Amino acid sequence: MDRIAAVKEYVDGIINRIENPEDRKYAMLHTYGVAWCCSLLAQKRGLKEEIGYISGLLHDIYTYFSGSVMCHGQSSAEMARPAIKNMKLFSEEEKKLILSAVFYHSSKDRIHEEYDELLKDADILQTYYSTRKPKIPKAALPRLKRLLKELNIATEVTGYEPEAVEESLLFNRFKFAALAEALAGQNIKGERESKEFLAIIKYYPESNAYEELKNSWCAAFVYHCALKAGLELPIKQPPYKYRFAGVGTWYSWGADKGFVFKDREGIIPERGDIVIYNNIIPEGRKQENSPWHDHIGILLAVEEDYLLVAEGNVDNGNVSGIVKRKHDNTIGCFLRIPDGIEYDGFLCDYKASEIYKQ
Ligand SMILES: [Fe+2]
Repeated sequence: MDRIAAVKEYVDGIINRIENPEDRKYAMLHTYGVAWCCSLLAQKRGLKEEIGYISGLLHDIYTYFSGSVMCHGQSSAEMARPAIKNMKLFSEEEKKLILSAVFYHSSKDRIHEEYDELLKDADILQTYYSTRKPKIPKAALPRLKRLLKELNIATEVTGYEPEAVEESLLFNRFKFAALAEALAGQNIKGERESKEFLAIIKYYPESNAYEELKNSWCAAFVYHCALKAGLELPIKQPPYKYRFAGVGTWYSWGADKGFVFKDREGIIPERGDIVIYNNIIPEGRKQENSPWHDHIGILLAVEEDYLLVAEGNVDNGNVSGIVKRKHDNTIGCFLRIPDGIEYDGFLCDYKASEIYKQ
């Protein structure tokens, strides 16, 4: 099958599921407009047009799937990853070029590699020419000016200052705990009939998400509550092998960020910390080859010998709940996400799957 036709079919399927006709029209225009701009710039710069065009088609798919723009470049790359792998039409090198461009495309004030830059420029060019009053954020102005100069277009451009994010929308541990408490307390069942459960797993685009997460959704519950409490985090982030729907990814991410602390290390656990358990799931309910960090929840209160924790999928029983946990060696560690934290996961080498060395 023609590679562009295969990707178009996939992307059109996502856009055609957008309910609002105006949003659907915008998504089509922007997607194809950016892809065409990628072709134009690729030809001018001596790059492969097809690779550029395909990165343009894929660049915003997670937004069209989820309705959210939060970390959408990173999540679009993660959504496109299995999709283009399953097409079996691209080499490893081509997949890296396409996915890396999608991953970085919102980082307009940073410089990456040629195909990454191609997509960022095409995105800005389409946006600039598709509105009668071009709306370009100030941070992207130097890029637009460079680009217009490259195209020998002499025109004055101005930018706008994006509004600062309201403090009440930023991540906050008390909000996190309150949300987790309210949700876990509903004893949500991990079933298709449960609207609340479908909201917890709505972040995962694949058609087998329900089967994958059933009886295994404690970390997906934490991810859902964290995002609702204002945390900005894509579904997957280099260098972590798995998505934030896995306990191990929360642990590794927290450890790399310096957010993990062990029990009784001088820091007193408090409401809104994440609890990562150590071999707490009873044998028989455990998956085979399960690592030590086999469960996760959100701390609500510390009592004398107990912790009160909000959990999804309590003891792999497929129901959420508020649980009293013994404060013993089944508590592996805690993870404290600072209030007001800003996303900085774009500071990584996507192709090498590494965090940039500072
Ligand atoms: Fe985008």
